[in-house]
Amino acid sequence: MTGAGEIVAGEPRPIAGGQPRPAAGEPRPVVLDCDPGHDDALAILLALARPELRVLAVTTVAGNAPLERTTRNALRVLTFLGRSDVPVAAGAERPLLRAPWVPVEFHGESGLDGADLPEPAVPALGEDAIELTARVVREAAGLVTLVPTGPLTNIALFLRAHPRLAARIAAISLMGGSLGEGNTTAAAEFNLWADPEAAAIVFEAGIPILMSGLDVTHQALMRSADITRLEAAGGRTGRVFAGLLRFFAVHHRQRYGWDGPPIHDAVAVARLVEPGLVTSRRLRVDVETTGELTRGRTVADPEGLSGRPPNADVGVAIDRQRFVDLLVEAVAAFG
Ligand code: RIB
Ligand code: CA
Repeated sequence: MTGAGEIVAGEPRPIAGGQPRPAAGEPRPVVLDCDPGHDDALAILLALARPELRVLAVTTVAGNAPLERTTRNALRVLTFLGRSDVPVAAGAERPLLRAPWVPVEFHGESGLDGADLPEPAVPALGEDAIELTARVVREAAGLVTLVPTGPLTNIALFLRAHPRLAARIAAISLMGGSLGEGNTTAAAEFNLWADPEAAAIVFEAGIPILMSGLDVTHQALMRSADITRLEAAGGRTGRVFAGLLRFFAVHHRQRYGWDGPPIHDAVAVARLVEPGLVTSRRLRVDVETTGELTRGRTVADPEGLSGRPPNADVGVAIDRQRFVDLLVEAVAAFG
């Protein structure tokens, strides 16, 4: 496994400002690894709606719900959007070491409560998530960007099982972590708390990371007026996603008093679509795996005291109105 910043044998990685870019005009090939999950569903919608991205595959992981449900939810969203052509493969049903734990209050029993989505038109592939990711990365003409929006178990397993394919990964744009408060413990955000060992493997892999943690995603709220606008803009897609968002809003209003939920996962996609959307700090970030109070915490090292080079562009601010516009436009694109 390479250290942060070490050049891995294989294709040179075009790195411009920490965010490797495909050739001008070419869509960026991405693999979405997710645990739908309401905000994962919006991340999938946005990625499929944008010409700047080409979704090669969707892989699923246990997180917001058990794996069987997150996989069914990913398939239902793709079926609803008419994109059952996108291959889906299920991955890890539990973290590498830790016991699984589902925050059912956020996403409901199904993991995607609040809307009547169709049953999947096609099943998940027989391949598992790691095999599918390896296959599409090998077959891609250029570098592939991984976009994990759940616990990082699948990404860690992929990197461990296929170390030579790390050189074909342009970047990892992940939702997770927090420099400030946590949402699962005082110290840690759910995706990294759920599988801190997997997260540590990912942050130490030497692949450029775009980290969209709570510092930026708690600014990425879809307020009730935004949801109404989204509903009006997008026909059946608008109605269904407005229903999902209104369900997702309930717990956030009760817990935080917010007028609308944070669309965490869509930030990891949106910043690939519009690099200027998110303001970020280039930092060294490592993941705590041994602390009892601090399990899964992302520890930033702004002064480089560790001697380890920066490995992540950490989102700290977002143009919320433009973010909302992107989601409304995505819903309208499906109509
Ligand atoms: O902490 C927020 C993250 O946990 C999001 O990815 C949400 O979908 C849940 O997985
Ligand atoms: Ca998620």
